[in-house]
Amino acid sequence: MRHVRIIGTGSYAPDNIMSNDDIAKLVETNDEWIKSRTGIKERRISTKETSSDMAYEAALRAVQAAETDPNEIDLIICATITPDYCMPSVACQVQGRLKAENAAAFDLNAACTGFVYALTTASQFLQTGMYQKALVIGVDTISKIIDWQDRSTCVLFGDGAGAAVLSATSDRRGIIASTLNSDGSKHAFLYCEAVPLSNPYVESLEERTAPSIRMLGQEVFKFAVRNVTDTIQTVLEKANREGKDIKYIIPHQANYRIIEAVAKNCKLPIEKFFMNLERYGNTSSASIGIALDELVQTGELHRGDTIILVGFGGGMTGGAILIDW
Ligand code: ACO
Repeated sequence: MRHVRIIGTGSYAPDNIMSNDDIAKLVETNDEWIKSRTGIKERRISTKETSSDMAYEAALRAVQAAETDPNEIDLIICATITPDYCMPSVACQVQGRLKAENAAAFDLNAACTGFVYALTTASQFLQTGMYQKALVIGVDTISKIIDWQDRSTCVLFGDGAGAAVLSATSDRRGIIASTLNSDGSKHAFLYCEAVPLSNPYVESLEERTAPSIRMLGQEVFKFAVRNVTDTIQTVLEKANREGKDIKYIIPHQANYRIIEAVAKNCKLPIEKFFMNLERYGNTSSASIGIALDELVQTGELHRGDTIILVGFGGGMTGGAILIDW
C-alpha cells in the first residue's frame, strides 16, 4: 500500500461576525452563559454564501497551497449536511467551478465527523493506487438549519468550510492510521429532519416546515467525551504510538468543556489540543478542516510532527486519523 500525504490546506468563513451579545438580542441568553458553558465568543454567519460558495473558496485555497493544477485531481469528496441541493452534490458543483475535469465527485454525510470520514475514504482510493490526488472538503451552512428561537442550539454553531489536497507518495510519512465508528441506536441525540413523505398515496400531506437541528445536549456531551477519548486511544494503538509522541490533537470544535474532559481522560495536557472554537463556534463538517488550515497558516506545524484529527457528530459518528506531517 502507498502512503498518502496532505500537500495543501485551505479554509473559508463568511465575513459576518455574530457575537454572543448579538445572539442575546434574539433569545434569552448572555455572553457569560455561552462562554462558560461552551468557550464560544463569536461565530461567522453567512449573509449570502451557500455551502458550494464556501466549499469552492476553501478548495481553491487548498489547491493553490498544494501547487496543484485542478486537472490533476482525480477525486473530490465533500462532507456536508447542508448541501445547496439534494442534487447535484456540492462536490459536483465545486468540480465544475474548479474545472477539475478529470475528477469523480460525491458528497458524504457523517455530520461533524464528516471531514475525518472524507479524508479516510479518499485516502483509501490513493493507497490502493486507483487515484493519485484527491480533494477533500468539509462545509456547512449550518445557520440555515438552526432554529433561531431555540437557545439550547442556536448559540453553538457557525458557518464555514475547510479543505485539503491529498497525494499518494513514496515518502514513509502522511496518514499512518485511521479509525471510524458509528452508533445509529443513538440517532435521536442529534438530528435534523429532511423532506417528509409526500405523494398522492399519502392521505394527509404533512405541512412542510423548515427542518432544524434538535439535540439532547447532555447526551451528546457524554457521548462526545466517551467516544473521542476511546477513538484517540484506538488510533494511537493502531499506529503503535503513545500520547507523548503527539504534537497536536485537532478535535472537532464543539465545546471547550468536552475537549477539557477528553484531555483529562487521555492524561494529555490541554495545550496539545488545538482550538479556535471561540472565534468560529461549531462549524460542523468544516470545523476540523478550518482548524487544520489555521495550524498550517500559523506555521506551528512542522515536517515530522505527529498530529491526530478527531471528530464526533450526529449519527452518532466518531473517527480519528493519525498523521506524520
Ligand atoms: N442561555 C442561557 N441559559 C440556557 C441556554 C442558553 N443559551 N441554553 C440552555 N440554558 C439553560 C437551560 O434551560 C437550563 O436551565 P434550567 O436549569 O432552568 O432548566 C440550564 O441552562 C442548564 O441547561 P443544560 O442543558 O443542563 O446546560 P449544559 O451545561 O448541559 O450545557 C450545552 C448545554 C452547552 C448544549 C451542553 O450540553 C453541550 O455542549 N452539549 C454538547 C452539544 C454539542 O457538542 N453539539 C454538537 C454536536 S456535533 C454535530 O454533529 C452537529
